[in-house]
Amino acid sequence: MRVFLVAGARPNFMKVAPLLEALHARRDRLPELQPLLVHTGQHYDEQMSDDFFRDLGMPMPDIYLGAGSGSHAEQTARVMVTFEKACVEHKPVLVVVVGDVNSTLACAISAKKLGVPVAHVEAGLRSRDMSMPEEINRLCTDIIGDFLFTTDELASANLIAEGCAPERIYFVGNTMIDSLTKHLSRALAAPPPYGLGAGSYALVTLHRPSNVDEPAALQGLFDAINAIAGYIPVLFPAHPRTAQRMAAIQLHECVRVIEPLGYLTFLGLMARARMVLTDSGGIQEETTVLHVPCLTLRRNTERPITCEQGTNFVVGTDPTAILQAARHVLDSPPPKSRIPEKWDGHAGERIADILLAWLSRHRIAEKTYTVLP
Ligand code: UD1
Repeated sequence: MRVFLVAGARPNFMKVAPLLEALHARRDRLPELQPLLVHTGQHYDEQMSDDFFRDLGMPMPDIYLGAGSGSHAEQTARVMVTFEKACVEHKPVLVVVVGDVNSTLACAISAKKLGVPVAHVEAGLRSRDMSMPEEINRLCTDIIGDFLFTTDELASANLIAEGCAPERIYFVGNTMIDSLTKHLSRALAAPPPYGLGAGSYALVTLHRPSNVDEPAALQGLFDAINAIAGYIPVLFPAHPRTAQRMAAIQLHECVRVIEPLGYLTFLGLMARARMVLTDSGGIQEETTVLHVPCLTLRRNTERPITCEQGTNFVVGTDPTAILQAARHVLDSPPPKSRIPEKWDGHAGERIADILLAWLSRHRIAEKTYTVLP
C-alpha cells in the first residue's frame, strides 16, 4: 500500500517532512503502508534542495524525477510525464502534494488522470491574483483534490465558496509550522552568522517573477532596500532567479548579498531579525509564529490570517511606501500577534491520522494502471 509524498521545490520540503515522519510513526497500525518520498527535481542546487534534506533530517528521496528548470509548460510537462511513469511503475494508492509550485499541480493532474486519489496539503489559499503562477496551481490542484487539508478556516471558507463539498475539506493546521516548532531550538543554538546581533538587522528575500524579472521593478525594490540600509544593516540571501538578475543593481554598503541559506541558518536569522522584508508566502507564516514584523512586498497575499492575527503587513512594491513602512516598524515596539489556531506543531499528525483511517477503511487492493495514448 504505497503512498507517494511529493516534494519539488524549496518551500515543499519543510511541509512534507512532518507528514512523512507522522506516517512512518504510524506504520504499526497499518503494516502494509509504505510512504514513499518523490522528489521531482524542480529545485536541484545543493542550497535549494540537499541542504534542506540534511537540516530537516529527511531520508533521501525514494524516487527522483530530475525535472529541472524550464518554462512553466516545459517544467510542468516534464514532471507530469516522469511522475506518470513512476505511478504506473509503483502503483501508489494515494498521492499527497503540498503547496502551490509547478510540481504540485503536475503531480496532482498525472495522478488524478490515472485514477489515483490526490490529497492537497495547504489547500484553499487564494490571492485572487491570476498573474501569479502559484494561484493557478492552487486553484487547479484544489479542483481535482480528494482530500483538501487547510491551514486555517479562511482557506476552508474559500473552498466552500467555490462549491467544494465540505466532506473533502479538513482544517488541520500548518505543517510548515510543525517543522519550525521542531527545529527552532536547534536553529537558535548557534549565534547569528556574520557577527550580527539579535534584533540588529533586517532580513530580505525576493524571488517572485513580478518583482525580479522586470529590471525596473527590481531596481525600485532595491531603491527601498538601499534606503532602509541607511537605518539598519540588511542581509539578503539571493534566490538563484534573483541572483541572475542583479548585475546592474547598485547596492548600499550595508546591504550584504549572500548565497541562499539552509533551513536552520535561515530560521535562526529570521527568528532574531528586527524585521523581515519578503515576497515569499511561507515566510509570512513563519514570521507570524516568531512574532517578527514582516513587510510583504506584494500587492496581495493568499495568507490574510498572517495580517489579521500575525505580524504581517502587505505594503506593495512602491519604494516610498516600503521605506515608510520599514521606518514605522523600526520606530515602534514589536507588534502584538496571535498564533493562528492549530499552528501548534501537530498538523502532520492530524493529516496522518485522517489518511490512515481512510487507508485502513479501504485497504485498497493494488491496482493496475493503464496509460491512455
Ligand atoms: C518556485 C515556485 C515558487 C516558490 C519558489 C521557492 C513555481 C511556479 N514557483 O519558484 O512558488 O516560491 O520556487 O523558491 O513553481 N534555479 C537554480 N537552481 C535551482 C532551482 C532553480 O538555479 O535549484 C534557477 C533556474 O534558473 C530556474 C530559476 O531558478 O530557471 C527559477 O526556478 P523555478 O523552479 O522555475 O521557479 P522559482 O522561481 O524557484
